[in-house]
Amino acid sequence: MTAVVVVGTQLGDEGKGKVIDLFSERTNLVVRFQGGDNAGHTVVVGDDEFKLHLVPSGSVRGKRVVVGNGCVVNPEVLLGEIGELKSRGIEPEWFISGRAHVIMPYHIRLDGLEEDSKGEMAAGTTKRGIGPCYQDKVARRGVRVADLLDPDALREKLKYLLPLKTRELELYGSDCSLDLDVIFERYREFGERIADHVVEVSVLVNESLDRGENVLMEGAQGTHLDIDHGVYPFNTSSNTTSGGACTGSGVGVTRIDEVIGVAKAYLSRVGTGPLPTELEGETADFLVERGNEYGTTTGRRRRVGWQDVPMLRYSASVNGMTGLVVTSLDVLDGLDELQVCTHYRLDGEEVPHVPPTREWGRCEPVYEEFEPWSGVDWEGAAELGYDELDGEVRRYLSYLSEETGVEVIGVSVGPERRQTIINRDPF
Ligand code: GDP
Ligand code: IMO
Ligand code: MG
Repeated sequence: MTAVVVVGTQLGDEGKGKVIDLFSERTNLVVRFQGGDNAGHTVVVGDDEFKLHLVPSGSVRGKRVVVGNGCVVNPEVLLGEIGELKSRGIEPEWFISGRAHVIMPYHIRLDGLEEDSKGEMAAGTTKRGIGPCYQDKVARRGVRVADLLDPDALREKLKYLLPLKTRELELYGSDCSLDLDVIFERYREFGERIADHVVEVSVLVNESLDRGENVLMEGAQGTHLDIDHGVYPFNTSSNTTSGGACTGSGVGVTRIDEVIGVAKAYLSRVGTGPLPTELEGETADFLVERGNEYGTTTGRRRRVGWQDVPMLRYSASVNGMTGLVVTSLDVLDGLDELQVCTHYRLDGEEVPHVPPTREWGRCEPVYEEFEPWSGVDWEGAAELGYDELDGEVRRYLSYLSEETGVEVIGVSVGPERRQTIINRDPF
């Protein structure tokens, strides 16, 4: 029996989908615990590419998958994804928490309008209604998945909510109308379609662990997008860090055995907010093209930068990481230079940690230069295994491990499942 949490250590898109697919081979259950379809997790198996937004990445291996209470769920996206997987011959057993909150049409409209009104405070959201849905959850007026199964409760809630949401929309200058009967009917029908899959997730996961099964908790976004630990307000609206796995699935902290952090070999960010090591020009173009750095959910070109050790150190400690997986090492192959930010300087002073405010954006990175590598035979390296990795690549990995105090348990050297070098499997 092992419970393993996988989280992003940076700003999302670290390659979590690939890592979760890999480690889910020996699991019985894969659980998403926060976020919604703002996530875009890619799994590549041979010529097949899967881009999952809400359904956990363990589904590609046909594992039992669970959407936990900490998630916000657009039922249309959920059912669409399940249908798409089915059309590709994959029919995982899936469950959803009745406690998860439902993204309603007004959340999506409000997300766009709020963003447009925020000026410099806009985070460049995915406009999937994530923030507005979590706002309603915290305000104790949200629609939960369980409400979709109880038509009377749903209608009552909508009677209260729709005039309120109409006024909110009007505040932003929108005159769109919210028709009670239309919305009620649509969401009641979603309820009918998911009813057989609604369970008490906490009981499901704890009983699975009691039976001695392996459970993988799938994090979305990344540590520096966490609502508490990310750089506010350029973050998402949920706890993306390992603590969120417990609250977002109803599992006690004492049951978690390992926390694996996924780190890209460099940095990427989609959306606004500080990125002290941000690159421009040729090196940025090189990384974007080699790493195919376009958002999985929105298609936006991702910003890229050099590896940032203060960010990784913070991730290691805030998540209690027991293992690190470094992805996209192959993308750095062939660069003329390779830099790593060791700390920052701000107004002449040394700053060892990531500042909790937008001051982070004024920090100047201080770099250590590494010997770049080129022409590595990654296929051969994947066959030889972790212990045979040497030279500049090994030095780079050892440095990241020493600085974070976390063992590198795996390395990814391409998008495909087989382009991986595992040092230690957490299961
Ligand atoms: P996630 O949100 O953390 O699951 O990451 P995304 O799927 O949004 O973005 C990661 C992208 O990098 C995807 O296109 C992956 O297929 C790809 N990828 C993952 N690992 C590697 C790797 O080691 N090398 C390369 N070149 N691409 C990778
Ligand atoms: P995965 O799971 C990268 C970013 C958005 C925006 C901010 C808030 O694929 O790593 P939101 O829509 O959540 O309110 O947007 O967070 N963001 C992500 N960036 N990867 C993600 O998910 C992200 N999910 C949200 O770009 O800056
Ligand atoms: Mg992604």
